[in-house]
Amino acid sequence: MNQSNVKPAEGKLGIMVVGCGAVATTFMTGVLMARKGLTKPVGSMTQYDKIRIGKGNDKKYLPYSEIVPITKLEDIVFGSWDVYPQNAYQAAMYAEVLKEKDIEPVRDELEKIVPMKAAFDKNYAKRLDGDNVKDCKTRWEMVEALREDIRNFKKANNCARIVVLWAASTEIYVPVCEEVHYKLSDLEAAMKADDREHIAPSMCYAYAALVEGAPFIMGAPNTTVDIPAMWELAEKTKMPIAGKDFKTGQTLVKSGFSPIIGTRCLGLSGWFSTNILGNRDGLVLDEPANFRTKEVSKLSTLETILKPEWQPDLYGHGNDEDTQYYHKVRINYYPPRNDNKEGWDNIDIFGWMGYPMQIKINFLCRDSILAAPLCLDLCLLSDLAARAGRYGTQRFLSFFLKSPMHDYTQGEEAVNHLYQQYTMLKNAIREMGGYEADEEID
Ligand SMILES: NC(=O)c1ccc[n+]([C@@H]2O[C@H](COP(=O)([O-])OP(=O)(O)OC[C@H]3O[C@@H](n4cnc5c(N)ncnc54)[C@H](O)[C@@H]3O)[C@@H](O)[C@H]2O)c1
Repeated sequence: MNQSNVKPAEGKLGIMVVGCGAVATTFMTGVLMARKGLTKPVGSMTQYDKIRIGKGNDKKYLPYSEIVPITKLEDIVFGSWDVYPQNAYQAAMYAEVLKEKDIEPVRDELEKIVPMKAAFDKNYAKRLDGDNVKDCKTRWEMVEALREDIRNFKKANNCARIVVLWAASTEIYVPVCEEVHYKLSDLEAAMKADDREHIAPSMCYAYAALVEGAPFIMGAPNTTVDIPAMWELAEKTKMPIAGKDFKTGQTLVKSGFSPIIGTRCLGLSGWFSTNILGNRDGLVLDEPANFRTKEVSKLSTLETILKPEWQPDLYGHGNDEDTQYYHKVRINYYPPRNDNKEGWDNIDIFGWMGYPMQIKINFLCRDSILAAPLCLDLCLLSDLAARAGRYGTQRFLSFFLKSPMHDYTQGEEAVNHLYQQYTMLKNAIREMGGYEADEEID
């Protein structure tokens, strides 16, 4: 290995997951089963992908772990917080994502993962009514209680490092407010003043993680670390942050499929995406204020791939009055399907001389099965980034995210194109491994 600048992955890595629901328990169960050799971590880039290093006659294709020091699955210890007190075994059974036969072999280990009390505010997710909740008078008290949890967990489990991953429900939409969210000092003052409108509980988790020296990953579309005050904290604490919103089903398809239209210079007049799901995530998203957060995240993908201002003839109108193709995203709560989401995409394109055509995509997916490998990769790669001395927003992790963070205050654009994101991911691994970044065709 050519590791020039990354600290080795020595000791245990504590992965503390906010939320012990469908995604979290599918992730944990899969890791515990895989390390017993009872399943395969399919879909995980850190476990399967091979990257080219070197060029011409010197080129080689290596798995990530032979280029950079990635923490081994055996060295992971899980912790969790949730509004509901059920342990990870009970929560996995409740979620009904996995069959009993795929949970039972690791039942003992899952039963030991008992959620700590959540930093929660019912106004941020009205449909949840669990009582495993911290009794804190202010947002600042929440931060302090969470910091104590992280310290205690780290010590009790003899962890060398911690990563905090948000896999909890989507909170209501918190628009970025310059007076509170731009400067760290303002954010801290608002936490101390218990400004419940601008400080979501998720911000308390993120703040606590960063000051305790742990990278923080936002798997839901919540604003949380996507504000300049948190970027400032990440710089100050020299910790990586990543977000937002796991790119699993429909948006993965969108960011992988839309380049076909763009690369061939075909036109787009409309893209309608709708889907049904019936898990607790779907229940929370049935609340309009929570759906708004998701909608903003899901809509952002196409606009940076098929740009009206770049190709007005192709992407500049949905009908005669519009300045852009029509783009709509819908999520419908439908309990019978549980975690097995079904998504439909109707794409209205046009070709030579403006003649219209249609494409239909029907994706019958499993939400948590798609999200679990992303959780693993985001945690392992954030831990790697921290050991490589990288801090602040980790743009190379955009590959895994629906609404990737970028510095919008400087007019920077998000990279949503799946293959451009993949190039960023590969180059970051190459660089951390002491090789040159490049864009040679593999
Ligand atoms: N599965 C996917 O494909 C996918 C894709 C993108 C994003 N997500 C996001 O991942 C998150 C988890 O999804 P899920 O299907 O596991 O949902 P889930 O409802 O099964 O689990 C979420 C858990 O978070 C808990 N929770 C809520 N607020 C909390 C808080 N403040 N502190 C601690 N725990 C809290 C809830 O009690 C619940 O048990 C959701 O926000 C979802 O939008 C999922």
